[in-house]
Amino acid sequence: MNTITSKSIISLFLIITSLLSTQAISDTINASQIFRDNGETMVSSGGTFNWAFSARKIPGTVTWAYGTLRVIDPGLLVLVNDTNGIVWSTNTSRTVQNPVAQLLDSGNLVVRDANDDNPENFLWESFNYPTNTFLPRMKLGRNFRTGLEVYIRSWRSNSDPASGDYTYHCDPTGYPQNILKRGEAVQYRSGPWNGQGASGAPSLRRNPIFRFGLVMNKDEVYYHYELLNDSVITRFTLSESGVGQRWIWVDRTQGWVIYIIAPTDNCDIYRACGPYGSCNVENSPVCGCLNKFTPTDSQGWDRGDWSNGCIRRTPLSCENGDGFLKYSGVKLPDTRNSWFNTSMSLEECRVLCSRNCSCMAYTNLDITNGGSGCLLWFGDLVDMREVSPGQDIYIRMASSELVLLSLSVMLYYRKRKKLDREQRETGRPRFDYVDNHTDESHNKSLELPLFDLSTLTKATDDFSINNKLGEGGFGPVYKGLLEEGQEIAVKRLSTTSHQGVDELKNEVICTAKLQHRNLVKLLGCCIQGEENMLVYEYMTNKSLDLILFDPAKSILLDWTERLNIINGIARGLMYLHQDSRLRVIHRDLKASNILLDSDMNPKISDFGLARIFGGNETGANTSRVVGTYGYMSPEYAIDGVFSVKSDVFSFGVLVLEIVSGMDAVQRRKVTGTG
Ligand SMILES: *[C@@H]1O[C@H](CO)[C@@H](O)[C@H](O)[C@H]1NC(C)=O
Ligand SMILES: *[C@@H]1O[C@H](CO)[C@@H](O)[C@H](O)[C@H]1NC(C)=O
Ligand SMILES: *[C@@H]1O[C@H](CO)[C@@H](O)[C@H](O)[C@H]1NC(C)=O
Ligand SMILES: *[C@@H]1O[C@H](CO)[C@@H](O)[C@H](O)[C@H]1NC(C)=O
Ligand SMILES: *[C@@H]1O[C@H](CO)[C@@H](O)[C@H](O)[C@H]1NC(C)=O
Ligand SMILES: *[C@@H]1O[C@H](CO)[C@@H](O)[C@H](O)[C@H]1NC(C)=O
Ligand SMILES: *[C@@H]1O[C@H](CO)[C@@H](O)[C@H](O)[C@H]1NC(C)=O
Ligand SMILES: *[C@@H]1O[C@H](CO)[C@@H](O)[C@H](O)[C@H]1NC(C)=O
Ligand SMILES: *[C@@H]1O[C@H](CO)[C@@H](O)[C@H](O)[C@H]1NC(C)=O
Ligand SMILES: *[C@@H]1O[C@H](CO)[C@@H](O)[C@H](O)[C@H]1NC(C)=O
Ligand SMILES: *[C@@H]1O[C@H](CO)[C@@H](O)[C@H](O)[C@H]1NC(C)=O
Repeated sequence: MNTITSKSIISLFLIITSLLSTQAISDTINASQIFRDNGETMVSSGGTFNWAFSARKIPGTVTWAYGTLRVIDPGLLVLVNDTNGIVWSTNTSRTVQNPVAQLLDSGNLVVRDANDDNPENFLWESFNYPTNTFLPRMKLGRNFRTGLEVYIRSWRSNSDPASGDYTYHCDPTGYPQNILKRGEAVQYRSGPWNGQGASGAPSLRRNPIFRFGLVMNKDEVYYHYELLNDSVITRFTLSESGVGQRWIWVDRTQGWVIYIIAPTDNCDIYRACGPYGSCNVENSPVCGCLNKFTPTDSQGWDRGDWSNGCIRRTPLSCENGDGFLKYSGVKLPDTRNSWFNTSMSLEECRVLCSRNCSCMAYTNLDITNGGSGCLLWFGDLVDMREVSPGQDIYIRMASSELVLLSLSVMLYYRKRKKLDREQRETGRPRFDYVDNHTDESHNKSLELPLFDLSTLTKATDDFSINNKLGEGGFGPVYKGLLEEGQEIAVKRLSTTSHQGVDELKNEVICTAKLQHRNLVKLLGCCIQGEENMLVYEYMTNKSLDLILFDPAKSILLDWTERLNIINGIARGLMYLHQDSRLRVIHRDLKASNILLDSDMNPKISDFGLARIFGGNETGANTSRVVGTYGYMSPEYAIDGVFSVKSDVFSFGVLVLEIVSGMDAVQRRKVTGTG
């Protein structure tokens, strides 16, 4: 650009008009010809582009400065004034025998040797020095070999082509993206290229008029666009107030109409919602935090100062194995501190990101054909907004936040995918949740079938009272019959309580990870609207307490069966405490949590309390938090200290109950009140 800015009034640009000037000269001038500012125009061979060279302002065209344009040896394009003083000149590092300047059909004014039309050998081309207009086939970006950067700069005003405040760049830092700046301050990003369009500007996706694209190789990085139909004329300009406008020429009216503008709305303002904030123009206020994030400065946030953005609700702890949570429908964050690889798979990308504690997110580089390539972010994620169709991004999250989170996010996602999935599989849709994303465990990620609310409503006869099996601490349990004939037990967690959600989470982790014949099997879950439900295999003989403490039924339990039940519980507990991958402390072992199948085999159920609380926590509902009095070890009941030993204590109480047929809780109550 140095050659151009020598005199600010001088600006090099093109005009595009379908009108031919009466004084049109050919598309080429050679060293013995000149091109004057007296209304002459240079017309490309196809007639698409005219170079006007005039001091006058012609509507729809654009002016140059006063003077005479000529090509001189050894290959410079110069603008001279009346006294032959050089007002402006191109620069070249090479010399040629017979230089000519030619206006190509693309609108590119080039200086080349008369006998050499190879673009590689052009001495100079106007496409490398645009002002406010980005034309098809221009390369907006950087050439690393020559060091040249091509970018668009606004005019000072509509009638003054001197440099204005705004520039539009393809910034090659990290993964290339287009950035609109005012001076050095970023105003707007269109979002990184994703193979289909710019992630934040869905309007740049496939359209019938032009195809946009990013080219990256070791020599250059640039954005460009090509016309899909040569009969359509379009250009992109940057207005003096910093608005990118795409225009389409309409033959019928002989005028330009605006096709797209950017930025479009408040959410396009760079960093509108700060780090980890997400902007949605349909909301009021427009800024929100991403799911599982909270405002960094909640007072400021409430006042509408969103610049500090949001922070994770649960801080990361990289050593303990963070995971990643998928967010869908977003404009990808600023990629200036990103890293990418075009050939990696999403899985390789995840592994790479999980290994580096400062890697905050990953996603596919290119979303075409199911996705490919890897894009990683380091540092805070800024400038996200909700867009449709947006992209998926996987954001690093403390593992404790993960399971349920991925549940809710994937459910949204699943809603869309469900139909075709149901068609593909004979069974019901499954939902995978991402758990402890470490290299070793990632592909053991668990799959839990997802039930439709309508399926469960039907199976339980609309949660009919007749199908109610009992009332657990966290909600009623219903018997259900699936259409396939399978019997199920549906635990309907209390709708509004957070405890229900905690229990669900815990239950899902434990039951899905733990597989043992003496543990009850979780068949799936249902999360829809306010409803959180867990679906288990149905146990014909219900819970142990119903048999044991019912004098009529307990008589039927012989010693062999009682021993079998005790052994089964012991094996289940042993598995929980020692043999499973997780060490699980059940914390609420009691007769009503032992279920019996048709062969009277015991299965431990109800992992709602297992491991969920720190040893110190009391929680709001005592009965829930501390388990069940009568089964609790004294040190746990009194000091809240719990360990595997607490379960062993409860087991002992249970053995006494099974042997004696007496209810420890009742006895305790009696003793307590007596
Ligand atoms: C320039 O072009 C004109 C017309 O085509 C021709 O007569 C003249 O010889 C050319 N001059 C040079 C230096 O090639
Ligand atoms: C022409 O340009 C030269 C060099 O820039 C300058 O010295 C001279 O004053 C200019 N003449 C006129 C009439 O503008
Ligand atoms: C032309 O370019 C060369 C090297 O690229 C540079 O040294 C020289 O200063 C430039 N000349 C002008 C007038 O800009
Ligand atoms: C290009 O556009 C013209 C006019 O709109 C239309 O008649 C023609 O079919 C188009 N060509 C293609 C290949 O789409
Ligand atoms: C990109 O990933 C591929 C496959 O993992 C690897 O072979 C290649 O070296 C990587 N390229 C860079 C620049 O890291
Ligand atoms: C993590 O990535 C950052 C940024 O690329 C790099 O500076 C740092 O060395 C990496 N750390 C490790 C442990 O690889
Ligand atoms: C995640 O897995 C790693 C290694 O398998 C283990 O050390 C870590 O404790 C696990 N974290 C959680 C929360 O399960
Ligand atoms: C799990 O990962 C290993 C190595 O990455 C691979 O060989 C194996 O096929 C994977 N298993 C499944 C079920 O995806
Ligand atoms: C357990 O279930 C089986 C099959 O339903 C039944 O035959 C048996 O009587 C039940 N046992 C008790 C103790 O209820
Ligand atoms: C229990 O919590 C209190 C305050 O919340 C804390 O001071 C104490 O160290 C905790 N004790 C244990 C064993 O975690
Ligand atoms: C605790 O649980 C009992 C019985 O489930 C219930 O009646 C009570 O309202 C609960 N208390 C709180 C504070 O949730």
